[in-house]
This record gives sequence, structure tokens and C-alpha cells, in this order.
Amino acid sequence: FTTGALAGKRVVITAGPTREALDPVRYISNHSSGKMGYALARAAQEAGAEVTLISGPVHLPAPDRVTLVSVVSATDMLAAALATLEHCDLFIASAAVADYRPATIAEQKIKKAGDEIQLTLVKNPDIVATIAQHKNRPFTVGFAAETNDVDAYARAKLERKNLDMIIANDVSRQDIGFGADDNAVTLYSKHGSTEFTVMNKALLARQLLAAIAIQLAVL
Ligand code: C5P
Repeated sequence: FTTGALAGKRVVITAGPTREALDPVRYISNHSSGKMGYALARAAQEAGAEVTLISGPVHLPAPDRVTLVSVVSATDMLAAALATLEHCDLFIASAAVADYRPATIAEQKIKKAGDEIQLTLVKNPDIVATIAQHKNRPFTVGFAAETNDVDAYARAKLERKNLDMIIANDVSRQDIGFGADDNAVTLYSKHGSTEFTVMNKALLARQLLAAIAIQLAVL
């Protein structure tokens, strides 16, 4: 991976989970650690890119020489992503965005009462699909975390979300993916697919960006 492979490119990466508030003290979220997105941000910066990392709440140090935009909810993450659109050559969505959010956020702490409670959830906007719809869209790369039929689901998402590439991983495996330091993925584009065997997320990030940079260069 040559340093400078992304020289002069403006790269925006979403990472981590989103947090969807229920009331002032509670939220719905997921176990995303943000490690893959932070590794990608670091690797893109090392490859010469100007990097903006839009991150949900994680326990990771901010990468050096990267612009960190901290967000909480999916709505915040979408707004931050749209704000970068005019100055973005490559958008990589590695965030584990909550698919739904509570329909209303209670102003006061919800009190314990009956044995059951009903929550109404509404669908969150799809951030990467929104970016990919734009007229002057950047080269857009998504992730697909799947537990089964990885190949079919990944290809379907590539099409449906109008992405240039999608990086799929099998999250039914304990040794890789969510929270782990290692990952193994398959990168799909309309030209075909490439497999990356289990490796450290830092090394994987460099290899993925090398593959992405080749596609960017031939555009
Ligand atoms: O549909 P699914 O959530 O599996 O798609 C995963 C891909 O879409 C990831 O790249 C994720 O960051 C992105 N995504 C998004 N906004 C959402 C849901 C997913 O950007 N609301």
C-alpha cells in the first residue's frame, strides 16, 4: 500500500453505534466498538487523505490528524454526513446505525408502573443510501454485517443502496467483527468480489483502502 495512494482525496467515514434516546437517562443502541471505522480513518490519513470521522459514542482515542465529528443519534449522524457532501471524494459507512428510534423522547424519566410497557419505534433514515442518491455523490462504500447468506445479502444491499462497493462480514463468528481486534471480509463491487482472510483491523483497513483507491483512480 503506497503512502500517498489517497493524496488530495477528501474521505468521510462514519463509525461506531448510534444512540437513540428514550428519555433523559435511557437509550437504545448496539455493541459496535467503532474499531473498524477508526482503523479506516487512520489508514486513510496515512495514505495522504484529508479525513473526517463522524463517530457515534465509542471508547477509542481520536486518531491523529483526523477531523473528528462526534454525534449521538442517527439523525445527528445524517446531518453531519450531509454537511460534508460538497467536500467529499470517498464516503465509507462503517457505523452500526440503529434502524429504529423511539417515536417520541419523553421529557422526563419514564416511571416504572405496570408489568409491561409498549415502545413505538420509527424507522431511521438510511445514511449511506441518502449519500449515494445525491447527484454529485462521492464514491460510496458500505458495510454489511450478516449472520447467514452473506453473499446474497451483500450483493442485494450493494444494488438497493446504490453503492459502489460493499464490505461484508459474517458476524455469526465470535473471533471476528463486532468488538474484536480482527476481521475477515469480502469486498463486492459490480466488477466482482475479493476475499480478505482474518487479520488485524489496522492491516485490513490498509488493504481495503488500497483496493478502494484503485477503483477511485480509474474513475
Ligand atoms: O441495511 P444495513 O443496516 O445492513 O446496511 C449496512 C450499511 O448501511 C452500513 O454501511 C451502515 O453504515 C449503513 N447504514 C446507514 N444508515 C442506516 C443503516 C445502515 O448508513 N440507517
